[in-house]
Amino acid sequence: MDDPIPTITFPDGTEVPALGQGTWGMGEDAGHANQEIASLKAGLDLGMTMIDTAEMYGDGGAEEIVGQAIKGRRDETFIVSKVYPWNASRTGTITACENSLERLGTDRIDLYLLHWRGNYPLAETVEAFETLKASGKIRAWGVSNFDTDDMEELFSVPGGRNVAANQVLYNLARRGIEYDLLPWCQSRNIPIMAYSPIEQGRILHHPELIRIAKANQATPAQLALAFLLERDGVFVIPKTANIERARENRDAISLDITDEDWDALDAAFPPPAKKTPLEML
Ligand SMILES: NC(=O)c1ccc[n+]([C@@H]2O[C@H](COP(=O)([O-])OP(=O)(O)OC[C@H]3O[C@@H](n4cnc5c(N)ncnc54)[C@H](OP(=O)(O)O)[C@@H]3O)[C@@H](O)[C@H]2O)c1
Repeated sequence: MDDPIPTITFPDGTEVPALGQGTWGMGEDAGHANQEIASLKAGLDLGMTMIDTAEMYGDGGAEEIVGQAIKGRRDETFIVSKVYPWNASRTGTITACENSLERLGTDRIDLYLLHWRGNYPLAETVEAFETLKASGKIRAWGVSNFDTDDMEELFSVPGGRNVAANQVLYNLARRGIEYDLLPWCQSRNIPIMAYSPIEQGRILHHPELIRIAKANQATPAQLALAFLLERDGVFVIPKTANIERARENRDAISLDITDEDWDALDAAFPPPAKKTPLEML
């Protein structure tokens, strides 16, 4: 029997499992579609019901893959999608969302994010998000790639405090947010969504990560995910198009790492000692 995935509660009270699934790179090649759909479905079967996508991924192709994967089981899923900054005007946001809904084959997006900051005033995008919320096309809205000063600015615009999440680059090799952004969000009950949680595979060859994982009968990917799952209010959204890896990632929940090993991991991947600007991929 699998250990249940711990849940995180959004500001509106919605509870969602902390370990979800990413989709960047999906929907780009029709020859991979079946495998991508099968992997997302396997992830859903394992309880990873939050699926993160964007109009950007595969030029809408990833949203279509998600639409296929959730067919007939929409109510058990929590769908996150994102609007391009250059679409995030008062009217452009609405159109972009309607196009995403069409590709996803659903009537609502659970969490709709501004993918990164662009030239439209935040107040305008927030107004569009609130309009979408009022019409039921989205349940909640949030942001992505927002550093602490961006969040503070967002809080200063009308409705800006309704932000439900901030999705940012966060993994063992990119711990900068622990200095200020993570505590800022935690103290306001705004969940962080950690993207590229295994640094797109690049950290998996790190000798200390391999050593500590082995000592805990785990894989490096599982240890990297477990590190993030330890933090309060942090969703983790690894992407895989491989059923075996979906299972492997799911099993990161069951790791029981000793304090000594967490300390060794901190020594290999030190936490930030000062403010560093938020990085993005
Ligand atoms: N908001 C933003 O600006 C932003 C930016 C980047 C990402 N994201 C979101 O976050 C999600 C995750 O980030 P990401 O896709 O950049 O990187 P990631 O999840 O850190 O890594 C994905 C890569 O790792 C491989 N992989 C997955 N599980 C593995 C395992 N257990 N062992 C070995 N390799 C494994 C995958 O290959 P296979 O598929 O072949 O398994 C894929 O190549 C994205 O898919 C996207 O939804 C958001």
